[in-house]
Amino acid sequence: MHTVHGAISEAYEKFVKPLQLENRDTIKVLDICSGLGYNSAALIDHIRADNIVIHMIEVSPEVIFAGVLVPSPISTHRIIKRAYEEWLFENGWVHFQMISTKIPENISIKVFCEDARQILPSLPRGYYNAIFLDAFSPDKTPELYTLEFIMELARVIKDDGILTTYTSAAPVRSAMIEAGFHVGEGPSFGRRGGTIASPSKVIKDLSWTDERMIALSDVGIPYTDPSLADSRDRIIERRKKERRTVRNTRRLSSTVRTPLYLGKDLKGGKYDHRVLKNLRKFGIKDGLSKEALYVICPQYSDCICGCGLSRLSSSRDRILEMRNRLESLSTGKLYVRNKE
Ligand SMILES: C[S@@+](CC[C@H](N)C(=O)[O-])C[C@H]1O[C@@H](n2cnc3c(N)ncnc32)[C@H](O)[C@@H]1O
Repeated sequence: MHTVHGAISEAYEKFVKPLQLENRDTIKVLDICSGLGYNSAALIDHIRADNIVIHMIEVSPEVIFAGVLVPSPISTHRIIKRAYEEWLFENGWVHFQMISTKIPENISIKVFCEDARQILPSLPRGYYNAIFLDAFSPDKTPELYTLEFIMELARVIKDDGILTTYTSAAPVRSAMIEAGFHVGEGPSFGRRGGTIASPSKVIKDLSWTDERMIALSDVGIPYTDPSLADSRDRIIERRKKERRTVRNTRRLSSTVRTPLYLGKDLKGGKYDHRVLKNLRKFGIKDGLSKEALYVICPQYSDCICGCGLSRLSSSRDRILEMRNRLESLSTGKLYVRNKE
């Protein structure tokens, strides 16, 4: 459920503090995979707002039950316990209530106990200032990281809203970009940095290596779940198949991290032979050829290929531009973004 580096600390560092939502009149937050309720408890503790609306989605009634039973690591967790206990009581899981803490009048909490994929389509458009996405890793629950699910998140978040998640997985970031989010590196806490996303705000850039791998290699192929109802295995299998289809035709192979060699002199390095073999499938003769520079030019402050484009201002824009350029090499129709 949590990192060994400290569950409640992670709630503050990775989910709550990056929101920068302090001192608002009303803030509305969607806590997906609310689990024991630590992220919402940290939110209530940290945020200063006249009114706070929290919608919590957790698939397992047993976990909600555990949320009521575990010792509270911070005092605001008792507010979550109260909301969870009310839900258990109203739904017939318990027959009396024991939590004496009251939910403050300026806080409204609604609990949904169902698969988040079923709840999301019923939520209003452009409603939330913040979304926490705290599912298990994409290997375990890919259904909560698919392009279609993330498009639902893009629909319900406000234009200046912020989505935080602890994962930095390439297919998740790629799906966020396809769904219209700007993506940035989240704070690192114990494990790798997470991801912060917003429809309109440009957040801390991704590293140039992450931008390249997401844009140009098959690791950037997102999970998909067109009906928002497929099994984990089916979603994983579909992505594997899609990766095989696009590898060496529309995306560079992720083996030996091929995209990272664009712009380099490939003479005698350990993997150069394999990299060149991968590049040549796209008509890229070597790491410094004009085709190679054309593809990676959007990452440079001054144009390096003669297209005249100056550096694009966000990771999202650079990723989309590089991807379009790579795809245009395979069709033979070179693409350059309108300089406006
Ligand atoms: C990493 S834990 C979340 C920890 C939580 N944020 C906390 O503060 O304790 C992931 C949670 O996602 C829940 N979950 C798994 N699949 C889900 C789904 N499809 N919809 C909603 N919740 C789900 C699990 O039951 C588990 O409680």
